[in-house]
Amino acid sequence: MTRIERVKAATRDDHQQIDDMVMAMKPFDSRVNYARFLKMQYCFHRVMKPLYAAPDLNDLIPGLSSRSRFDDVCADLADLDVARPKDTTPSAAHMAAPQKGPGRLGWLYVCEGSSLGAAFLLKAAGNIGLDDTFGARHLRGHADGRGRHWREFVAQLNELELDEAEEAEFMQGAHDAFAFFHGLLLEDQRLAA
Ligand code: HEM
Repeated sequence: MTRIERVKAATRDDHQQIDDMVMAMKPFDSRVNYARFLKMQYCFHRVMKPLYAAPDLNDLIPGLSSRSRFDDVCADLADLDVARPKDTTPSAAHMAAPQKGPGRLGWLYVCEGSSLGAAFLLKAAGNIGLDDTFGARHLRGHADGRGRHWREFVAQLNELELDEAEEAEFMQGAHDAFAFFHGLLLEDQRLAA
């Protein structure tokens, strides 16, 4: 198995839990629901931003910085006139993405991988009049093609040489990133209750 195949298999349950919880909040039934989902995306991509910008990671993964979807998430919020979550919200207080080490690669795997599921979400966003030019920009595929852009990242990640301890950190990073998103979902449920 390649590294990506291993991390995909190891995080299958993590992903399923997030998928189920996001769908349960019916984000594409109304723009009000979608705004809740978008705020989570903001918090996630905001946490990811320094990882995409990290010089050492850009050396390892050329072109990494151009992959960040944070600006698109901000544009989506502006389209819908939704305020950015403040950096003092509880979720922001738990913005705990690692700032060094190979755990960051696991977080990047989760964020990049989420652009695959985004193809389905973008289609569903059409139900509430949103598309890749308004409100759902961050769900659009890359100009090179969604699949191709992903496969390029997969190849880059698979080629990295990691020792056993680094590999374990990478794997843990992927679990932690899903756990972070899970935390955002739980917080959203608390606020909505
Ligand atoms: C309702 C919400 C979601 C749905 C329906 C969904 C659906 C999917 C689907 C269908 C794929 C496979 C696409 C393909 O192989 O072509 C996928 C991949 C993936 N998604 Fe999601 N997703 C959702 C949310 C998320 C979120 C919020 C994250 C991250 C926090 C995420 C992370 C990933 C990752 C990492 C992969 C790549 C797995 C791999 O091939 O290695 N997904 N998603």
